[in-house]
Amino acid sequence: MRIILFGPPGVGKGTQAQALAQKFNLVRLSTGDLLREEISLSSPTGRKVEQYLRKGHLVPDDIMLEIIDNILLENRERDILFDGFPRNLNQAHSLERSLAQLGQEISIAFEMYLDETEIIKRLVNRRYCPRCDRIYNLITNPPQRVGVCDDDGAKLLTRADDTAEVIKKRLNIYDQETRPLVSYYKSLGIYRKIDAQGNQEEVLNRISEIVNAYLSSKCTSN
Ligand code: AP5
Ligand code: MG
Repeated sequence: MRIILFGPPGVGKGTQAQALAQKFNLVRLSTGDLLREEISLSSPTGRKVEQYLRKGHLVPDDIMLEIIDNILLENRERDILFDGFPRNLNQAHSLERSLAQLGQEISIAFEMYLDETEIIKRLVNRRYCPRCDRIYNLITNPPQRVGVCDDDGAKLLTRADDTAEVIKKRLNIYDQETRPLVSYYKSLGIYRKIDAQGNQEEVLNRISEIVNAYLSSKCTSN
């Protein structure tokens, strides 16, 4: 199974991806997390991409696609959940070609949607754990101890791109570059739209229902 989760910044992709990966035993491939990890390691890739993330621009496709291809190869036997990838049509086409080479295809492409006021509220209150990537929200999902990750005790951080100015930029880039994926995945017959309003559990149930239906349909057709 190869599942894509896309949607504007702050809609809850990472939160749902972490829960779905656990629930359905999927490898979670979050391109944002991977890039932030490269930056925190100060690797050659990290140094190349830091400015793009800081400004809210997309990282160039060639850098992104090389990272993805390596991970697809390493995980060829596993079910994968893509969080934040693909981000434009070029990446979408490239992903399909890479999967085809492995005899695989995309099962479902979920687009999560939410109104902009709620998105901004979620993002300005977000904190994350740089060690395990766990996502918190000061209002809806706070840590037990202020400023500290419940799982590993690391100090929680605010993302460098969660400023009002950069959030606006990311929302614009989503509209221009990523939204065209909607008609593309509709044309492939694998597009599903998910209302991201409501608590994490409610949203998880909406997505899980569709994943379960997909899995049952695969069982009956085999
Ligand atoms: P990325 O890290 O993917 O950021 P994004 O797309 O902007 O999305 P976010 O991670 O900000 O939001 P989310 O939807 O994951 O929401 P979350 O679950 O955290 O990418 C960052 C950057 O990396 C890009 O700008 C770009 O530069 C680069 N990049 C990444 N992928 C790339 C690619 N493929 N190509 C090129 N460049 C790429 O939730 C947000 C908040 O809401 C949290 O506080 C959470 O606790 C809370 N929350 C979640 N769900 C709920 C709920 N149901 N109710 C209440 N609160 C909730
Ligand atoms: Mg995310």
